[in-house]
Amino acid sequence: MDKRYHIVTYGCQMNVHDSERIAGMLSELGYSSCDSMEEADVVVFNTCCIRENAENHAYGNIGMLKKLKSAKRDMIIAVGGCMPQQIGKADILHKKFPYVDVIFGTHNLNKLKDYILEKQSGKKSVIEIFDSEGEIVEGEHPLRTSYPNAWINITYGCNNFCSYCIVPYVRGRERSRRSENVIEEARSLVSDGYKELTLLGQNVNSYANGSDDIRFPALLEKIAAIDGKFRLRFMTSHPKDFSEELAKAIASDRKICHCVHLPVQSGSDRILKAMNRKYTSADYLKKIEILKKYVPDCAVTTDLIVGFPGETDEDFKATLNLVKEVGYSSAFTFVYSKREGTVAAKMPDQVPEEVCKERIIELVALVNSLTREHSAKYVGKTCEILCEGYDDKRGLFLGRDEYGRMGYFASEKNIIGEFVNMFVEEANGVSLMGKIV
Ligand code: 5AD
Ligand code: SF4
Repeated sequence: MDKRYHIVTYGCQMNVHDSERIAGMLSELGYSSCDSMEEADVVVFNTCCIRENAENHAYGNIGMLKKLKSAKRDMIIAVGGCMPQQIGKADILHKKFPYVDVIFGTHNLNKLKDYILEKQSGKKSVIEIFDSEGEIVEGEHPLRTSYPNAWINITYGCNNFCSYCIVPYVRGRERSRRSENVIEEARSLVSDGYKELTLLGQNVNSYANGSDDIRFPALLEKIAAIDGKFRLRFMTSHPKDFSEELAKAIASDRKICHCVHLPVQSGSDRILKAMNRKYTSADYLKKIEILKKYVPDCAVTTDLIVGFPGETDEDFKATLNLVKEVGYSSAFTFVYSKREGTVAAKMPDQVPEEVCKERIIELVALVNSLTREHSAKYVGKTCEILCEGYDDKRGLFLGRDEYGRMGYFASEKNIIGEFVNMFVEEANGVSLMGKIV
């Protein structure tokens, strides 16, 4: 009988793509994917540790497998990624979940294939974490699961050490792939029919800094110049490195989506300083002004944190004001989560939970009202949507426009992977309802 794998992914887009890399390795070992852990011969948890709730979620799910594993002794359970990469965490995981067979970190994700083979050849358990990042691995064959969208890593790791953030500790120092490898991957994806490429990195703006390679704006232009109809996106940009050259590059080719994710985190200069973000709210607004000068219709999205240590009502009001001033088309909102080992974890004045709760409710309400405002402007207009999938519940196809708005529409035939023009009849919060014209 066929051998099957099931991957559970936590966290960001970077992890979604890492899971595609894991799927590629498992398929090379002869496994095919299945929808549930019960059917699987290999279950992989690709974990995230950016906030405590992502970790708790993984703990809960791994714990639930104990029963299944005792009924199905041959099943291989692997736990990898950011969580075990934290100092001492692999041992904690091993003690807490002795039935887990393989534990690996972020720096040796590419070795999972060997670890599964070791386990198959009778080893009791395989636990390996690399302390440092090592060379970038090229020539992998990720099994892509998001057609017509494809993710391309351009940088790994992060050098910014924002005081709240654990990423630099678990993903290592920033490394950039060579531009020729990135461009070749993009070219081959376009020729395979992918219609939207998203370049990934913790801070794409510092791509190739300090090397003899081309910088990010030139990389964008070169990829956009590849023949064929496709969209190009990128995430994430750090505001301190967002340059006029980049704004010009975005404006230079219509394949580059007029949508930029520019995490601000807070509107208070005091808090931004404590977060080690290296810009003030005025610097940030200046960057938005530069972006809008070259790309006036650019949608801007952001990440926001409430309840950073020492955040006062005044600081929080500054965040609300900045959100209104920028007029984000949407935003991800987070309650600060204390991460052991980061600088902020040692700061006094951790904000009480009830205060965080009140603030996040107020912030989400504001962000939702801005999102609704943006959506309402679409009604009666036609927009180009890239059809990405089918929503079983609604019985409608769905896709996004270049600004990131989700549109739903009916179609007789399967048009996933095609660009369609949709006349917007109704706006429903973040989503638009319409018909193909
Ligand atoms: N607590 C809350 N949010 C965090 N983020 C990163 N670290 C933390 C943390 N400790 C958020 C930031 C970042 C996004 C990916 O996750 O807003 O931009
Ligand atoms: Fe974390 Fe800051 Fe790096 Fe983003 S830029 S990954 S928030 S340290």
